[in-house]
This record gives sequence, C-alpha cells and structure tokens, in this order.
Amino acid sequence: MPHLIAPSLLASDFTKLGEQMDMINQSEADWLHFDVMDGRFVPNISFGFPLLKAAKATCNKPIDVHLMIEEPEKYIETFREAGADVITVHYEACPHLHRTIAQIKETGAKAGVALNPHTPVSVLENVIETVDLVCLMSVNPGFGGQKFIYNTIPKVKRLSDMIIVKNADVLIEIDGGVGLQNAEALLKAGARVLVAGSAVFKADDPLDTIRRMKAIGQELR
Ligand code: DX5
Ligand code: ZN
Repeated sequence: MPHLIAPSLLASDFTKLGEQMDMINQSEADWLHFDVMDGRFVPNISFGFPLLKAAKATCNKPIDVHLMIEEPEKYIETFREAGADVITVHYEACPHLHRTIAQIKETGAKAGVALNPHTPVSVLENVIETVDLVCLMSVNPGFGGQKFIYNTIPKVKRLSDMIIVKNADVLIEIDGGVGLQNAEALLKAGARVLVAGSAVFKADDPLDTIRRMKAIGQELR
C-alpha cells in the first residue's frame, strides 16, 4: 500500500490560509496534519476548534488531529464534531490510554497514539492491537522547524517488528523534521505516514515537494 503524506498546517502562512488550503486541495497530499498545543503538555499554544471547523469546511482531505494537550479525554468528542478524521493523543498525557483509545474509536474517528522521542515503543505492547496509528515524534513536540532526531529510525524498525509479530493493522506515522532528505530511510524502516511542515510550506514549490515525497516510495514497492 502506498505511503501517505500529511502536510502540517502549523508551518503554513496564516495570513494566506485560503491559498494554502487551495494548494493542499490541488496537491497529492493524503491528509492535512493539524497540531493542537495547550501550553501545558508542550511549551507552546497553537490553535483549536474554530480553525479546525474552518479547515474542515475548506479542505478536501481527511484531517489528522495531533493533540499535544493534557487531559485529551475531555475534548475528544468536540474535536470529532469539529472535523477530526484521525485523533492522536500522547501516551505521556494518558494515564488510562486503553480507555482513551476506545473513546476515540466510539466517535468513529481513527485512533492514534503519539510517543515523545524519549519514550520507548515497548510501552505500547499491551495496546498496539487496539490502535489505528502510532505517531513517533522525531522532534520534541511543541514547535515546527526543528532538527530530525535520527534515533527515530531504529525506533521505527522496532515498532514495525512489534506490529508484524502481533499481526496488528497499524500505520506508523513520523512527525518532526521530516523531508526529502530522510523520507526514504523512514519508509524503508516501515513508516507509512510522513508528516511534513516546514519541508512543504517553506519550500519554493510546495506542490512539487509533496509530489516528490509521494514519489519516493514508489521504487520501494
Ligand atoms: C511538532 C508538531 C509537528 C510539526 C512538524 O510539535 O507536532 O507536526 O508541525 O513540523 P516540521 O515538519 O517543520 O518539523
Ligand atoms: Zn504534529
């Protein structure tokens, strides 16, 4: 199955949101990645429900909502109603992860779990069969435009092995510092969804960058 590209809205020019959404709609992007930050789980505040509703009304791709917030279980239904197709919570923010995953699935959204760079994939051993997606953070969450942490690549391999052994149906997503320079290595290791913020929105030609990221895996298949 082909890999998916999810441009991250956080890196877009907010003074030209309509144009940026037109670009995404015309592009080969598969999803729109939507980063929600609360100033508590991460040291930054981004955007929330009103912008998600606007994105849903203007974007023709599924919306991949990444919740970098504490107590995400309080807001899952509202994010779903506002337009989330995938809802990803952080392992580090969920003392009752199994319950929170079930809560996401009950809304009809796909359920994802994100791991910070320091969190080993082994913590997912008892829930891996229940999730649709695991997002491995390849930067410390909170900001776009950071440097990719290379230790993520062996982590992708370990997670990929766990998924195969458990015969689970789980997408591995990589988020942070992803671009044309590391996409191939990530795909070879087992990644299936590549989130790209700066690599897409700060490129001279975002459409071409998305096209090239999408094409990278083709010779691997
Ligand atoms: C980081 C966010 C990422 C970010 C990626 O906290 O979760 O989704 O937007 O941006 P780049 O691709 O610029 O690292
Ligand atoms: Zn993200």
